[in-house]
Amino acid sequence: MAFTKNILCIGAGYVGGPTMAMIAHKCPEYKVTVVDINAGRIAAWNSDALPIFEPGLLEIVGHARNKNLFFSTEIASHIAEADIIFVSVNTPTKTFGEGSGKAADLQYWEKTAREIVKASQSDKIIVEKSTLPVRTAEALERILNANDKNIHFEVVSNPEFLAEGTAISDLRHPDRVLIGSHETKAGLAARTIICDIYAHWVPREKIITSNLWSAELSKLAANAFLAQKISSINSISALCEKTEANVSEVARAIGADSRIGGKFLKASVGFGGSCFKKDIMNLVYICESYGLHEVAKYWSSVIAINEYQEHRFVKAMLTAMFNTVATKRIAIFGFAFKADTGDTRESPAIYIAQRLLEERAVVVVSDPQALQNARVDLKNAPGALEFVDDPYRAAAGAHAIAVCTEWELYKTLDYKKIFASMEKPAFVFDGRNILDHAALFEIGFNVFPIGKGALKHF
Ligand code: UDX
Ligand code: ADP
Repeated sequence: MAFTKNILCIGAGYVGGPTMAMIAHKCPEYKVTVVDINAGRIAAWNSDALPIFEPGLLEIVGHARNKNLFFSTEIASHIAEADIIFVSVNTPTKTFGEGSGKAADLQYWEKTAREIVKASQSDKIIVEKSTLPVRTAEALERILNANDKNIHFEVVSNPEFLAEGTAISDLRHPDRVLIGSHETKAGLAARTIICDIYAHWVPREKIITSNLWSAELSKLAANAFLAQKISSINSISALCEKTEANVSEVARAIGADSRIGGKFLKASVGFGGSCFKKDIMNLVYICESYGLHEVAKYWSSVIAINEYQEHRFVKAMLTAMFNTVATKRIAIFGFAFKADTGDTRESPAIYIAQRLLEERAVVVVSDPQALQNARVDLKNAPGALEFVDDPYRAAAGAHAIAVCTEWELYKTLDYKKIFASMEKPAFVFDGRNILDHAALFEIGFNVFPIGKGALKHF
């Protein structure tokens, strides 16, 4: 079959891979190719051991791969044949120079833009899929359209709102798809073409269009609002622990107000992931650069509360365990930044493990998907560190368990058996409030949830 459109995605990561797999799956008449400079990653996309763990992803990739979905390291030739190029290369926080620690590092984006110019022989639509600072398209357009080949590149912003662990259902049933473009004739035409891709499976009323700058800013603002909700409930969790209020009851009561909404009100050891901190720092940097210092301060406080929550968790462990954890074995249940992913970027567990190692504890990390990443994250951490798949073996001989990821698995373990294998007094610090605290207390554990009174036998 002759394909009606050639779609290319540059960057085969968490965003590019699943998004293109869904487009290929839903649009069999389009040829979808995903390229990356990382040959190992591309080889993994071409195998059954995909480079990322995401429920339902392998099935979707399996349906379309080598029919209308292709993974390749041949970047230039695929740029040349593409009508539409999605760019989802990484945009990490800058670690050097001006804006270090805050601004987005756009070097991969700029390099990609230059590669596109070099390899192109015809007009193309360039879609910003990565999260970018507001008004990035302005600079990109200058680079792209400063070519002497008389080629026009129309830049469209189509930020991705998928969350890890639920990427496939988020892509299949998105709350909305956002497409921002210039409101010129060429811009509106490009907008329509991108809308038509999603209209294959997303109801038209859920496809929102806007100007380019609103779309770029909406992605940053959405992540900032979500993170702000978590920091708000986490700040209340600290107050709950002082006042005998129960944070789950408070969350339920306030979330029932439809103006607040019940989602993203789970108090936790802190939010992680590749987006929230990075995007808020980016927002803060942009506000500062426009002289909006009060606005910058407001959003910075969302990060400050998150760090406070992580510090508080470790402090609570130390205080409960008689102010010392030196030589004590502590099992960390869950290292991923959330359940159903192997991703550990910005995971609170990294900080917690490092702090416990500094306190000279023997740290045993357990996780059903994230041990490979955990080993990399902790490769320079000093002290006694073990990585153990089986949670029973991880907890055997431990003084404490710290739950850092809300894996279903941890809810169904045999805690009587675990208790019997642990040193006494045995502690559980439930950084996700997922366990049955009363039942654990009954077994004999001293239980320290987040935002609720501790259950202690002493
Ligand atoms: C987020 C956004 O949700 C998504 O729309 C955007 O495209 C990318 O960033 P992601 O980081 O994959 O997605 O996961 P998310 O479900 O948002 O969780 C982020 C962190 O917040 C996790 O560490 C999670 O455990 C934590 N969290 C979430 C809480 O602590 N409490 C909650 O109530 C919800
Ligand atoms: P995200 O979570 O935004 O998808 P990832 O880091 O998972 O980010 O993926 C980004 C991908 O982009 C990586 O696999 C990286 O190798 C790839 N990449 C970065 N620069 C380029 C480039 N110039 N050409 C092709 N791929 C690139």
